[in-house]
Amino acid sequence: MKIAVLPGDGIGPEIVAQAVKVLSLLQADGMPLETEQALIGGAGYEAAGDPLPEATFKLAQQADAVLLGAVGDWKYDSLPRDVRPERGLLRIRKGLNLFANLRPALLYPELASASTLKPEVVAGLDLMIVRELTGDIYFGQPRGISTLENGEREGVNTMRYNESEIRRIGRVAFDIAMKRNKKVCSVDKANVLETTELWRQVMIDLAKDYPEVELSHMYVDNAAMQLIRAPKQFDVMVTGNIFGDILSDEASMLTGSIGMLPSASLDENNKGMYEPSHGSAPDIAGKDIANPLATILSLAMMFRYTFADMATADRIENAVKRVIAQGYRTGDIWTEGTTRVSCSGMGDAVVAAL
Ligand code: IPM
Ligand code: MG
Repeated sequence: MKIAVLPGDGIGPEIVAQAVKVLSLLQADGMPLETEQALIGGAGYEAAGDPLPEATFKLAQQADAVLLGAVGDWKYDSLPRDVRPERGLLRIRKGLNLFANLRPALLYPELASASTLKPEVVAGLDLMIVRELTGDIYFGQPRGISTLENGEREGVNTMRYNESEIRRIGRVAFDIAMKRNKKVCSVDKANVLETTELWRQVMIDLAKDYPEVELSHMYVDNAAMQLIRAPKQFDVMVTGNIFGDILSDEASMLTGSIGMLPSASLDENNKGMYEPSHGSAPDIAGKDIANPLATILSLAMMFRYTFADMATADRIENAVKRVIAQGYRTGDIWTEGTTRVSCSGMGDAVVAAL
């Protein structure tokens, strides 16, 4: 099992280092794991003038799975768009055809009071957001900023989806729902946007193949509200790239902190890239205070989805449950009466629990 490890920028290196400790322990246990590190994002730009250096992309292609930290830093915001860190991330997603982004939002009972919502609203929350990751307004052409004849500038992005793109992400959502509570809520803006009117039609058609699954539809504005009002009504939510980006950040706060939310980005063959749903948080980088649990939980997803090793996935997830039950908390999930630990302290606690 070869894993490409791409720490990236900001808190990326420190959170990934904790997940690597977990991998080292599994290696020591005799698991045939091989890891190789490479640069991406601002780190790639600094070293090679490219946020996705050729060598990094080759390594990611050859590896069985990719573990990514995060990319981006304000200091790169004035660079030409093509060499900004985020482009590296979007290019590796597209280049590896990682169209299915799974972002589970699971509330650990002990963290109910860390959420900004009332405990009774979030207690027992277990929802899966399935976000399409290689299409939509993120990649649609035409795009750009140009100058009109009157001298005024205009910005253009294009929201597009074709039927096959919608169908394949729909299948992922329905298949996952079959293993869960058999409910899919498809999120769109079909009252205004033709792209998502087509999205809705394809989902309705696809549902015929899954008679056991209950399909519902929700406009994205209402979905944003319902996630805060009554999040437990959802089992699987499936949506496009931009809506999924926004709703998954929102859903993460239901769980107490975005620092708890892992993600998997998969291709047709379950090869995947695994990364926390959060960003690079340059404001706290290098301070050893970030929460590494989203990254460690992403590793668990890697064993579950790419290596089909459920026992190891469970083992990692149980270790995380144990450290939470033991009362260890990074600052983002700390509440009165619990033990505040650093990023590396949390990594050590997980390794000890393993
Ligand atoms: C995410 C991030 C990325 C996205 C950014 C960093 C390009 O917000 O993974 O959700 O928009 O997809
Ligand atoms: Mg995002």
